[in-house]
Amino acid sequence: MKRFMVMGLAFAAALAFSAPALAADGAAIFKAKCAACHGQDGIGSAMAPAFKGNAFIKSGSEADITAVIKNGRNGAEKKYKQFAIGMPKQTLNDDEIKSVIAVMKGWAK
Ligand code: HEC
Repeated sequence: MKRFMVMGLAFAAALAFSAPALAADGAAIFKAKCAACHGQDGIGSAMAPAFKGNAFIKSGSEADITAVIKNGRNGAEKKYKQFAIGMPKQTLNDDEIKSVIAVMKGWAK
């Protein structure tokens, strides 16, 4: 009986410690992969649009925003002619994209 309790506790502890490690950290991903173009905290730069107050990020669906992140936006699809470059497609998994979008939506509202 005591052995089962110890095992149960060990299992609970393992769950408690693994959960945060599994959740993707949107802010860290943005800093590492997006901020160079979109600016620290999404304030924008001379290369790419801001996400602060951005209507597409604010009211766009998660699916539409995900599509831009996964596929990029270049050539004739480009929306912002003032930026010379396009949006390069990103290799992030679905959890990472979800967490980045949540961070961006926080800045856009
Ligand atoms: C090399 C520079 C660069 C990097 C790195 C980059 N982007 Fe972009 N991104 C752009 C440019 C330029 C545009 C504007 C494209 C256009 O003219 O439509 C853009 C557009 C976007 C848009 C559409 C914005 C709108 O108002 O329509 C989203 C969403 C986006 N980027 C997300 C991201 C995310 C998330 C990352 C990181 C995972 C990222 N970008 C990394 C350059 C970049």
